[in-house]
Amino acid sequence: MEVIVCATAEEGSDLAAKEVLGALSRKPDLVLGLATGSTPLGLYRRMIDAHRRVEADFSKVFTFNLDEYLGLPPGHPQSYRAFMDQHLFRHINIPPDHIHFPPTHGRDVPAQCEEFERDMRRVGGIDIQILGIGADGHIGFNEPTSSLGSRTRVKTLMEETLRDNARFFNDGTRQPDMAVTMGIGTILESKRILLLAFGTTKVRAIQSTIEGPISNMYPASALQLHPRVTMIVDEQAAAGLAMREYYKRVYRNKLSLEGSVMP
Ligand code: PGA
Repeated sequence: MEVIVCATAEEGSDLAAKEVLGALSRKPDLVLGLATGSTPLGLYRRMIDAHRRVEADFSKVFTFNLDEYLGLPPGHPQSYRAFMDQHLFRHINIPPDHIHFPPTHGRDVPAQCEEFERDMRRVGGIDIQILGIGADGHIGFNEPTSSLGSRTRVKTLMEETLRDNARFFNDGTRQPDMAVTMGIGTILESKRILLLAFGTTKVRAIQSTIEGPISNMYPASALQLHPRVTMIVDEQAAAGLAMREYYKRVYRNKLSLEGSVMP
């Protein structure tokens, strides 16, 4: 697991943007797995800025979002689709039919979940999956005790997650307590994973994910099984890591090796 400890969230977002935009310049039909929440907003702002500077073309890109609430009317302002429209999609030139969300309406949601995963495979699978992490160690809405081999499906949300997100539902809308999320098995099939975590509320989750045992009690710890995952954390989120100085040295060595082999 590559762990990059950045001084600030801004620096972490710069690094993530460099990865994503670099991959896009090499592969115009990049397939991105996307996350909602406050953490990736800095990355999305940088993607938008690059598009405005005409340095990034999203016209061939495909996206698959990790999760969506079950039971909200389509287009509801608290839906994750509305969040992504507001913070990314409406500011870049991605074709609407290239945007995918886990199914939450209509008949037979489980069959539609299988179709969602087929769509993913049809475009060649996710090249880069962006992840945040919940205070309880969830990725997507894979709450503690999720099967580490799980696929896209309906999940009931934990109390802690409901409490963390309750602030978004103070407009009188009933807060859904179920969601459809990519499974951990689905996420692990991404070719590359970037997990971002900033701030003091992530200390416990980051420590358990990186230095704890693989456990369904901390679903993000399953990322230890993935060969190309990078954890981009700020100093605050890294505060509980016993081997923090080692990760910094590993990263410095990586940069100096790259410097010596690249022209
Ligand atoms: P946050 O949410 O980015 O708003 O902290 C992350 C999550 O709960 O997955």
